Amino acid sequence: MRICILGATGLVGRELLHLLPRAWPGCALELYASRDQALEVEGRHYAVRGAEALDAVDAVGGQLAFVALDDEHSARYVPRLRALGYKVIDKSNTYRLDPAVPLVVAGVNDGLVDAGTSLVANPNCTTIPLALVLGPLRRRFGLGRVTVASYQAISGAGLAVLDQFLLEARVGYQSPDRLGQQLAPAGYVGNTVPHNARTDEGGFSAEERKLMAESCKILAAPELAISAQCCRVPVAVGHYEQVWIECERPLTLAEAEATLADERGAPFVRVFPGSEGVGLSALACVQDRDRALVGRMRLDARDALGRGLCLTVAGDNLRVGAATNAVRIAARWFPAADPTLQAPGMLP
Ligand SMILES: NC(=O)c1ccc[n+]([C@@H]2O[C@H](COP(=O)([O-])OP(=O)(O)OC[C@H]3O[C@@H](n4cnc5c(N)ncnc54)[C@H](OP(=O)(O)O)[C@@H]3O)[C@@H](O)[C@H]2O)c1
Repeated sequence: MRICILGATGLVGRELLHLLPRAWPGCALELYASRDQALEVEGRHYAVRGAEALDAVDAVGGQLAFVALDDEHSARYVPRLRALGYKVIDKSNTYRLDPAVPLVVAGVNDGLVDAGTSLVANPNCTTIPLALVLGPLRRRFGLGRVTVASYQAISGAGLAVLDQFLLEARVGYQSPDRLGQQLAPAGYVGNTVPHNARTDEGGFSAEERKLMAESCKILAAPELAISAQCCRVPVAVGHYEQVWIECERPLTLAEAEATLADERGAPFVRVFPGSEGVGLSALACVQDRDRALVGRMRLDARDALGRGLCLTVAGDNLRVGAATNAVRIAARWFPAADPTLQAPGMLP
């Protein structure tokens, strides 16, 4: 099988280089980025071509393309890839709310992808772990109101921003100042800042809008009352979300935990039992990269009818929040050799 990755040198593209041989051993990889270059990832060497090569009249097609570019470049290259005959998974924001394009979380609504589908949008990195948890809870208890506060890792902004953050952190913490007065007050190091995605006239940032609108589309619940506040924290990888849920029907803690611990009903979810959240952290995501981690479950006493639930969701934004979900979606078309990368094909 011939598979191409656009944006192969970026953070998400590099994760695909690990996952694709696991899913489709022996696949032929075609890698593209902004220009011709050599790429080394953990001792393996790859030749990368400038994506403009795809515009050539004699550009060769293939079966499957993963696009890990920004919105502008996705809009430029996705139509070309489709014209070349590729089935495409796009990881940018470009097509997510297009009614003609399925927005898919494997394990929640991947049943939307069939042999006739040629383009699928991969949701935002905070949306995917949240949807993996909300989907099973909605099927069992119904969803009324959902409130989310996200604490997002720096790598969500891409490789260049992550490397700059790591550099500034090394320099910034060399000073003995305990308070951090030597650090930039609007910078990422030692700081918590509002998510820097563009803010609209309603005062919500683009990141918050994505989390809200995408959740409604994935769950096929346009009426879902969901609100979000997003910030960035000085963590390299691993988005952390605090979630308040009001279900339609009363539930017990044991029922909520059992629902999310059921591997068939809640695929790609790992439950940390108990309300303390022992073991659940942003960095725990990089030990368990391909699942949404959920814990700190407790009933929210504000709802007198017993429908309120509080919990924490964490997910590796580069893997379960991006590359792994994309591979699982593509496994609807081309079954994966690794069962952990195979979408189960459940409908909401
Ligand atoms: N990071 C995350 O947690 C995350 C999660 C979910 C979704 N996403 C989305 O996935 C996409 C990729 O994110 P990322 O974090 O991997 O970004 P990134 O690390 O900044 O990588 C960007 C990629 O785009 C390539 N590129 C830049 N300009 C280009 C051009 N003119 N033509 C062709 N390729 C070009 C870069 O190639 P060069 O190396 O040659 O510059 C690089 O491979 C974005 O849409 C992002 O919103 C990211």
